[in-house]
Amino acid sequence: MQRILVTGSTGNLGRAVVATLTTKGVHVLAAARNPGKVVPSAGIEPIAFDYVAPATHAAALRGVTGLFLLAPPLDPEAPAKLNPVIDLAKARGLQHIVLVSALGVDAVEEAPLRVVERHLLASGVPHTILRPNFFMENFSTGFLAPMLKQGGILLAAADGKTTFISVADIAEVAATAFVKGLTSRQYNLTGPAALDHRTVTAIISKLSRKPITYQAIPEEAMFRGLRGTGMPEGAVQYVGVLYRAVRAGYAATVTTDVETVTGRKPIPFEAFASQNAAAWA
Ligand SMILES: NC(=O)c1ccc[n+]([C@@H]2O[C@H](COP(=O)([O-])OP(=O)(O)OC[C@H]3O[C@@H](n4cnc5c(N)ncnc54)[C@H](OP(=O)(O)O)[C@@H]3O)[C@@H](O)[C@H]2O)c1
Repeated sequence: MQRILVTGSTGNLGRAVVATLTTKGVHVLAAARNPGKVVPSAGIEPIAFDYVAPATHAAALRGVTGLFLLAPPLDPEAPAKLNPVIDLAKARGLQHIVLVSALGVDAVEEAPLRVVERHLLASGVPHTILRPNFFMENFSTGFLAPMLKQGGILLAAADGKTTFISVADIAEVAATAFVKGLTSRQYNLTGPAALDHRTVTAIISKLSRKPITYQAIPEEAMFRGLRGTGMPEGAVQYVGVLYRAVRAGYAATVTTDVETVTGRKPIPFEAFASQNAAAWA
């Protein structure tokens, strides 16, 4: 039986990966800085893991066959955190690492997640690289949810379009990659349609019957807002890079990789929103 260590298991994507792997009969070690945050369930073993506490890495990797590897979000230090874990996985003879990167990262060699991708590629460990676009769940449980609760989102996205994808689809790709052994592959994962933020907020507004708006703001105003929330400067600049890509149209790409791997089309935003309407009640 496969035993997969899932990093970020308490987060939006990691939670979905844990759930999908267990439905496929895989034994999951759910890694978290505080394992008490992992919801107990059959087939799920909570385990302590912190990128900045190397002593936790050896115990977490003991006896596992595969590793689902993701970086803390917006982290310019991702290579310093993830690369030593890839090295340890190699030393332990792991059969498969599925790495979460981000759409478009392979066009920017110095991007932190691209540096991690190249480290994994050079390691020789059997691997799958997933490059998802922005998550739909950013609006329901992610970083945009608090703004929506206050009636609207302010972003330096202009009228740039994004092929938002649900973490459920990314998780299905990740779990399929482990179960079918889809190694030496790189998948660019998007939702089915490119939408701007005005359209997305209109969909959410209609479903929640609440006036929710989108206001395009200049980059400097977005930076001031993010700094006001206490976000570290490295993460603020990281967000700047992401929304420059949105404004330039790079996030509007549609790919068919979800369907290629899973055999089913990715969920449209409207369906995601109606399934998650309670988030905006
Ligand atoms: N959101 C998007 O639109 C998007 C798009 C493309 C790619 N991605 C990538 O997808 C990944 C996951 O995003 P997400 O939205 O699921 O993030 P999230 O909900 O914020 O979850 C982040 C996870 O990282 C864990 N974490 C934070 N610091 C850690 C540390 N020092 N050691 C170990 N674990 C740590 C957290 O666990 P604790 O319980 O320990 O805090 C949490 O489970 C990120 O790498 C992001 O770059 C995101």
